[in-house]
Amino acid sequence: MELSTMQTLRTYIDGELKGNLTYSQLAKIAPFAEDRKILMSMAEDELKHANMFKNIYLKMFGRNYSPDITVEPISGDYYNNLREMVMDEGNDFRTYAHEYMNTRNEMLRNAYATAAVDENVHADRLLMLLSKEGEKPKSEENSDEKVHML
Ligand SMILES: [Fe+2]
Ligand SMILES: [Fe+2]
Repeated sequence: MELSTMQTLRTYIDGELKGNLTYSQLAKIAPFAEDRKILMSMAEDELKHANMFKNIYLKMFGRNYSPDITVEPISGDYYNNLREMVMDEGNDFRTYAHEYMNTRNEMLRNAYATAAVDENVHADRLLMLLSKEGEKPKSEENSDEKVHML
């Protein structure tokens, strides 16, 4: 069954807000300061995507959609959580790219293109973070210094 644009946008807004909360949580348990920064910027991207879809929703349907989204606290290993997110991001990239190719509405097309590109970058960043699995974090002080030097 094909979902209406209204339902579709609601689903994407919910998912983006969940992504925002999940990355914010992962940032808190990241073992390296620079990885925290990367995860926080990904959380910001997801919030931007949610707001982008919310604006379109308002323009198209003349009302706000502001769901109260919560996520379960992160459980299990940090790196296992990252691995799950890689799969999600890859799927989101594919979904948004597919929407982009099948949508005529200019406003929606731009949003889908932006989200698709970002989700692909996220998958890439997650793989980079995963490549550090097994590395020992330096003392908190040192990692923070490193960030300041960037
Ligand atoms: Fe997103
Ligand atoms: Fe993402």
